[in-house]
Amino acid sequence: MNTVPAQDNKAHLLEMTDNEFTQLSTFVKSRYGIDLTQKRTLIQGRLTHDLRSRGINSFQEYFKLLNNDPSGTEITNLLNRLTTNLSYFLRENEHFDFMTKVMLPHWEQTVRDHDLRIWSAGCSAGQEAYTAQMVMHDYFGARKNVWDTTILATDISAKAMNKAKSGIYTFDELKDIPAEWKSKYFQKAGADSLQVCDKIRKEVVFRTLNLMDDFHFKRQFHLIFCRNVMIYFDTQTKKELVKKFYEWTAPGGYFFISHSESLNSLGSQFKYIHPAIYQKQV
Ligand SMILES: C[S@@+](CC[C@H](N)C(=O)[O-])C[C@H]1O[C@@H](n2cnc3c(N)ncnc32)[C@H](O)[C@@H]1O
Repeated sequence: MNTVPAQDNKAHLLEMTDNEFTQLSTFVKSRYGIDLTQKRTLIQGRLTHDLRSRGINSFQEYFKLLNNDPSGTEITNLLNRLTTNLSYFLRENEHFDFMTKVMLPHWEQTVRDHDLRIWSAGCSAGQEAYTAQMVMHDYFGARKNVWDTTILATDISAKAMNKAKSGIYTFDELKDIPAEWKSKYFQKAGADSLQVCDKIRKEVVFRTLNLMDDFHFKRQFHLIFCRNVMIYFDTQTKKELVKKFYEWTAPGGYFFISHSESLNSLGSQFKYIHPAIYQKQV
């Protein structure tokens, strides 16, 4: 039971001076592109409990730990607290419908080497990438064995990556999945959980990757998902990132963002196709 009256919550927050807040937000912005400027109270709230429970009683003390963190654990934990890993299977299903009705039939006719390259950037615990893989299995059916549809799925959060790799989700997390998919693409894991079946898990490769880093791949992608990720970034960071996504999209390839985001005012060369769907012209 929470014994702290609501009006006292603020008083229980660990004190953070303007200077300390600037120090933290500048550090997070420069390394991870995450814009905390409007989130001071939220951050103070999220970090106060963690730090107090570890016997850390000031942000100065905490910064010393952050600046002397050779294993990277401290920074990873901080990022886990600052970002929201909310995701679910079949989220914004319009994208998966578009894959089935437009993209996959087109690729089936045009991709000669049968190698589809898809990247889920900011994939959280893997639901987006696994959904896309299941959609492709449904579409190709028996023809799937001649297609390489391995998906690259990346996120900055080590915690999310570990869950994604395990492929284990509770019944509650899977409540919106059709029964047919549960029996086709999942296997029993525990008393209240299922695991994505081996066949699908093997076709999603998870990697920890900071989108603020200089990333390089062997080839461009036919499709990049970056949904509900850029919401953390300021306009300049978004502009630079979308430009990098454009470079890594193959001519004719697609770029998906979430329906609550837009590329308007980012000066991108991507062509608008449908809400939250963009394409690089051939
Ligand atoms: C709300 S989730 C979105 C998950 C999924 N794309 C979806 O739409 O359901 C946002 C994800 O972006 C990741 N993220 C935030 N900043 C990032 C960065 N600089 N590099 C890589 N991933 C980042 C977070 O860790 C989080 O898992």
